[in-house]
Amino acid sequence: MEFDKVIRERQATRKFSNKIVEKEKLENILEAGRIAPTAKNLQPIKIYVVESSEGLDKIDKASPCRYNAPIVLLVCGDKDSAYTKGDYSTYEMDACIVTTHMMLEATNQGIDNIWVEMFDGEVLREEFNLSNNIVPICLLPIGYKDENCPASPNHNKRKDLTDLVEYV
Ligand SMILES: Cc1cc2nc3c(=O)[nH]c(=O)nc-3n(C[C@H](O)[C@H](O)[C@H](O)COP(=O)(O)O)c2cc1C
Repeated sequence: MEFDKVIRERQATRKFSNKIVEKEKLENILEAGRIAPTAKNLQPIKIYVVESSEGLDKIDKASPCRYNAPIVLLVCGDKDSAYTKGDYSTYEMDACIVTTHMMLEATNQGIDNIWVEMFDGEVLREEFNLSNNIVPICLLPIGYKDENCPASPNHNKRKDLTDLVEYV
């Protein structure tokens, strides 16, 4: 898909069908995450591919926002291996870039998706046995949207460029 089409066609999906995501498409999505840039190229990232029914039940305990997706990518930052400067660390930013790469590659593969921050990180930590340095940053439910999936209500509501940009 043309890049311009990818960024314009992507929209938040809040009702997925049960259709399985093809393994090759999933691998392409993960590969897009693997090659994302991170601060000092430290790649302080751990991605859990949650696809078993037990795993998806664990996601549902932590978040109301799976929307029936058959796969959820749980993207975590690793505090111990990220670039740090005093109190500042890039693990969250790095994880967001990795998630953005995967989200756009999902759209490129024709796989619907939604970025989710509404989750209880402590529940994820307990359910997935995460060590203290591994911090859940984003959930990325992926799959094929249900035929009755409503259009994303905010998708076409964007500020004008003049509200966002200032040339100096
Ligand atoms: C950082 C971030 C966090 C989000 N968290 C949630 C969430 O927890 N639950 C949800 O339903 N949508 C969530 N969304 C989806 C946004 O609501 C959606 O992207 C936005 O309204 C614009 O709509 P569009 O993606 O269709 O263009 C999140 C999006 C981003 C970028």
